[in-house]
Amino acid sequence: MVVLQSVVPGLLFMCILLLDQSIKKSLVEEVRDLNLSSNLYGETKGFIRSSVDPLLTSAYESVANARQQVSVTPITENPNNWTLRDPKLVADIPRYLKTYLMGAEISGEKKKLLLTPWYNKEGVHSLPQSLNLLYESLLQYLLPNEKHTIEIHNHPVASDHTMTAIKMVRITLIVSCLLLVPLTVPLIGASYVLFPIHERVSNSKLLQLMT
Ligand SMILES: *[C@@H]1O[C@H](CO)[C@@H](O)[C@H](O)[C@H]1NC(C)=O
Ligand SMILES: *[C@@H]1O[C@H](CO)[C@@H](O)[C@H](O)[C@H]1NC(C)=O
Repeated sequence: MVVLQSVVPGLLFMCILLLDQSIKKSLVEEVRDLNLSSNLYGETKGFIRSSVDPLLTSAYESVANARQQVSVTPITENPNNWTLRDPKLVADIPRYLKTYLMGAEISGEKKKLLLTPWYNKEGVHSLPQSLNLLYESLLQYLLPNEKHTIEIHNHPVASDHTMTAIKMVRITLIVSCLLLVPLTVPLIGASYVLFPIHERVSNSKLLQLMT
């Protein structure tokens, strides 16, 4: 009787809890750390258009080269016109997707800089990387003798991972709601049928047994 009333339902409830736990774990594990300060795209090209200080241009070039393997070209004309003048780039789409992912335009005065980061929308992470590059070079320009850095991290969830997680949640809900809960709860109620059976077998009154 004790087995039916407590041990079996207890075991089934433990199964439900374990299923819940495993789902939570898998949801947490699928999020990964993406270091956006590191070189994600391999060797690419970039540009800098600065009318302020040559030191700022060289800071941008050295940070881009050292951290993200971007070879930077200093330009003087409008970046749109400059990139479109490259005939190979216009004709070759894969080349367009892989080169010129990051760039920057710096204008204004020394005390009041106007910063414009440029990025290629085809590279999913090129906007944060371009921002990181710009701020990092500003940091190096302002504090040339100190080794401070700025890092950007993101924790993206790939869409296929989200889909598997959602599928897992659905399957567990179905298993626990349709199978485990209906199996567990009636066991407790049904076990009381053992009292009348015991009464019939032993010829004793149910009331006497219970008082
Ligand atoms: C992120 O990338 C940068 C540049 O490669 C590197 O210096 C830094 O150590 C990395 N950070 C982590 C936490 O891995
Ligand atoms: C960019 O190119 C267009 C068309 O060739 C031209 O009209 C425009 O003046 C150029 N812009 C600059 C800033 O050179």
